[in-house]
Amino acid sequence: MRGLIFLIALEGLLQPSRAEAEDPEAYMDAIDMIRRWGYPAELYDVVTKDGYILDMYRIPHGRFAEANSSCNRPAILMVHGMGVTSTEYFMNPPESSPAFILADQGFDIFLLNLRGTTYGKRHMTLTPDFGSKFWQYTVDEQANYDCTAAIDKVLEVTGQKSTYWIGNSLGTILGFMTLADNPEYNSKIKSLHQVGPVGTVHTVKGLTRFGLFWYRTLKPIVDWYRKTLGSHEILPQWPWLYRPLGQLCKGGLPFLGPEICYDLFFFLMGPPAKTFNMSRAATYLSHFPCGSSSWNFLHLAQLVTRGKVEHMDHNPEENMRRYGQVTPPPYNYSNIDVPIYLYWGRNDWDTNGPDIEHYILPNIRKDLGGLEVPGYNHIDFAIATDCAEKVWNPMAEIMRNENNRMCER
Ligand SMILES: *[C@@H]1O[C@H](CO)[C@@H](O)[C@H](O)[C@H]1NC(C)=O
Ligand SMILES: *[C@@H]1O[C@H](CO)[C@@H](O)[C@H](O)[C@H]1NC(C)=O
Ligand SMILES: *[C@@H]1O[C@H](CO)[C@@H](O)[C@H](O)[C@H]1NC(C)=O
Repeated sequence: MRGLIFLIALEGLLQPSRAEAEDPEAYMDAIDMIRRWGYPAELYDVVTKDGYILDMYRIPHGRFAEANSSCNRPAILMVHGMGVTSTEYFMNPPESSPAFILADQGFDIFLLNLRGTTYGKRHMTLTPDFGSKFWQYTVDEQANYDCTAAIDKVLEVTGQKSTYWIGNSLGTILGFMTLADNPEYNSKIKSLHQVGPVGTVHTVKGLTRFGLFWYRTLKPIVDWYRKTLGSHEILPQWPWLYRPLGQLCKGGLPFLGPEICYDLFFFLMGPPAKTFNMSRAATYLSHFPCGSSSWNFLHLAQLVTRGKVEHMDHNPEENMRRYGQVTPPPYNYSNIDVPIYLYWGRNDWDTNGPDIEHYILPNIRKDLGGLEVPGYNHIDFAIATDCAEKVWNPMAEIMRNENNRMCER
C-alpha cells in the first residue's frame, strides 16, 4: 500500500504536463494513437452472438495513399495477445508499429479488441462489475464468438470474400481454436500468420513458470476461490499506476535505474532484443496490462499444465451441460484447412521451439511456412524498433506476392 501511494505521489512530482509532452501516447486512447501519425482510423462495433460489443479499428489505407478502388487492398484482421489490447500493434512510431507498417504496405487493416479488455467492456445487457456474469468467459468464447463475429464484420465492411489473419501470442491460439471449432470459417481466412505462436505454453520459462508452480501447489485453494467468487476481472488497465513505473524505467530516479526494468521484462518474456526501446516504457506500460477474466487465466493454466488444447474444464455437471460429456473435448486441429505461417524466436520464453514441436507440428496437417527471428523475445515481435525488417516486411512480401493489382506502397 505504501508503495502504491509512493508511485501516485511520484507521478505528481514528475510534472504531468512535462511527462505528457515527453510521452504523449501514454495519455492517449487507442484511436487517437492511430490518428496522431496521420493514419485514417475508423471504429466499428463487433456484436457477438452472446451480446458483447467490441471495438474494432480499421486503418483503411496508409499514410501516403488515398482510397483507391482501382487497386487491390486485401484485408488483414489482427488479433492481440493476453493482457494487452490492439494497441500492442501501434505503440511505436510508424516505422516500427506492425499495423502502420502493413497499412503502408498496401493492406486494409482491422484491429480487434477482445472481450474483457479496455476496449471490449460493453455488452447489450450486462455490466462489467466485479463478479458480474460479464466475466464468465474464457478463450472458448473469445474464439467462438469474438473472433467469428470479427471475421464476418471484416468481410461485410470490405466486401471481400476472405481475410488474412495475424495473431500474436493469445491471438495465435485463438486463430487455431476458431478454425478447429468452426471449420466453415476456413473459406473466410486466406492464411494464418502466427507471431509468437502458442502451442500449449507447456515449456514456458521464467516468472510464468514460477506462477504455475504456485497454481499447482495451491490448486485446492484456487478451486475453492473459483467456486466462491465466480469469475471477475484480473489485471485491469491502470495507467495511473503503471505509467509512473514506466517513467522510472526511463531512468527517472537515481536509485532505481533502467536495469530493474530490463530484468522485469527479461523474467516475464525472455531477454529483450538489443533494439527494445526502453525510452518508451511509459507508453508501453500505460497500455498494458489491459484486463481479462479470472476464468480465462484458469483456462490458460489448464492448457499449460495438461499440455493439451481442450475446452475449459468447468466441473462434471457443467461439462455435461456444455459439451455432452464429463470431460472437456479437445480442439480438433485437423479441421484447420488454411496455410499457416509461424514467426518465432529462440529467446522467447513464453512460446518457443519446443512448444511448437510439442503441439503445433504434430497436430497441424497443413504445410507450414514462416521464419525464425533470432534474438527476439515474446514482446519484441510487436515493439522492437527493427521489427519491420525482421518480421513484418517479410510477411507483407508473402501476402503481396499472392495478390494481383496490389495498391502501391
Ligand atoms: C525510442 O523512444 C523514444 C521516446 O518515445 C522516441 O523518441 C524514439 O524515436 C524511439 N526510437 C526509435 C528508434 O523508435
Ligand atoms: C477431427 O477432424 C478430422 C478432419 O476434419 C476428422 O476426420 C476426425 O474424425 C476428427 N476427430 C475427432 C476426434 O473428432
Ligand atoms: C490507384 O492505383 C493505381 C494502381 O496502383 C495507381 O496507378 C493510381 O495512381 C492510384 N490512384 C491514386 C489516386 O492513388
